[in-house]
Amino acid sequence: MARAKSTFVCQGCGSVHNRWSGRCESCGAWNSIAEEAAAAPVGKGGAISVRGGRRIELEGLSGGQQEAPRITSGIGELDRVTGGGFVHGSAILLGGEPGIGKSTLLIQACAALARAGHRTVYISGEEATAQVRMRATRLGLADAAVELAAETNVEDILSTLTAGAPPRFVIIDSIQTMWTSSVESAPGTVTQVRASSQALIRYAKTSGATVILVGHVTKDGQIAGPRVVEHMVDAVLSFEGEQGHAFRVLRAQKNRFGPTDEIGVFSMTGAGLEDVANPSALFLSSRDVAAPGVAVFAGMEGTRPILVEIQALVAPSSLGTPRRAVVGWDSNRLSMVLAVLEAHAGVRLGSHDVYLNVAGGLRIVEPAADVAVAAALVSSFAGSVLPLDSVFFGEVSLSGSVRPVAHAGLRMKEAARLGFSRAIGAAGSGDAKADSGLCLTGLTALDGLVAEIAA
Ligand code: TYD
Ligand code: MG
Repeated sequence: MARAKSTFVCQGCGSVHNRWSGRCESCGAWNSIAEEAAAAPVGKGGAISVRGGRRIELEGLSGGQQEAPRITSGIGELDRVTGGGFVHGSAILLGGEPGIGKSTLLIQACAALARAGHRTVYISGEEATAQVRMRATRLGLADAAVELAAETNVEDILSTLTAGAPPRFVIIDSIQTMWTSSVESAPGTVTQVRASSQALIRYAKTSGATVILVGHVTKDGQIAGPRVVEHMVDAVLSFEGEQGHAFRVLRAQKNRFGPTDEIGVFSMTGAGLEDVANPSALFLSSRDVAAPGVAVFAGMEGTRPILVEIQALVAPSSLGTPRRAVVGWDSNRLSMVLAVLEAHAGVRLGSHDVYLNVAGGLRIVEPAADVAVAAALVSSFAGSVLPLDSVFFGEVSLSGSVRPVAHAGLRMKEAARLGFSRAIGAAGSGDAKADSGLCLTGLTALDGLVAEIAA
């Protein structure tokens, strides 16, 4: 008999090597390569049955249905992120750091779906059924007909699922704890995670159930698994938040059946996760009034305007290379705004430490925040408080000009609704001011903003 061969798999990126080495050549990670038993080749030990394929015309695919059939969870923020509900037969990966609230969110979703009459199964590989039930009881969900199982073997899970009425909604918490007997590696290794995911995703496609795989990811993405699963599933949702904050943001990183720019905002309370239908009010609720370095950014997340506070601290540096620390925004973008301020507006921050923070633990990706960031920086540098009735938005270009951004009208309407009376943004956004009732100070260049703050 041939000796069982082993392969060396990077636990970070999943690439396979012929021999062990200290550093993965594909992703550059150190000490991430582990020995695993080689996967059995497809069709091993028997004749491979080859069946002819069949062509289907694209126009015949819709079968009279325009939209993919979905089930809504009834949790508004969750449905918003999935693009209007869970699609039948789809597989979703929900990633997030341990303790962020993934299990809590999913048990709540299960209970809501079970109450709506769908058969839902929650399979926990981490907690005993008694623990899951205890949590559900604490959340006031104990009366929902969710089926619980504590199981880690994929074959056992599949036979449980195929017994009885086909489930509509299946949770696998978490994919790192699952193992299939078809490969020999330990649970949690890339090979196991990939093989288990494959089997569970195949189940979703053939049965029509929505399968949600939970995946733990650490801050530096060290734990094996979720990265390789991302390519295999229909949607990747990530659950984020700062441990010290009550806000949790659910974001779609990939979605075959919906947009990826929508976010769902939740707050973690003693009674589980609650929808935050009006995030702006929440992110602004603890406003540091009358302090320099604070600007309110009128932002957009998907189709929804969200106002957030941007805080900057600029202080003379005692270091040769001044510190730049950013929470909630892109540090390269900060460097660019600093450079433009220096080159085109005469604000020299080269010998100052700069700290930038987006309040509430939100992460902003929009370039439209440039003007708000610049305003916060200049305000902190000059020690002058920005007007409390103003919001800021606009993109800064390398030439120092301020460019209009999309949805100026929606941003200004939201600001007016929350009691602001003035917007400082790109000059081209004027068409929006008529129906928002906000007074717009139109900027064409960044030095205009600096003059405005100094005035
Ligand atoms: P959990 O859903 O177990 O996180 P994950 O599955 O992502 O690891 O959530 C754990 C955290 O949530 C824990 O630190 C306590 C907090 N929590 C609440 O604040 N309120 C609650 O009602 C529940 C159930 C959890
Ligand atoms: Mg959990």
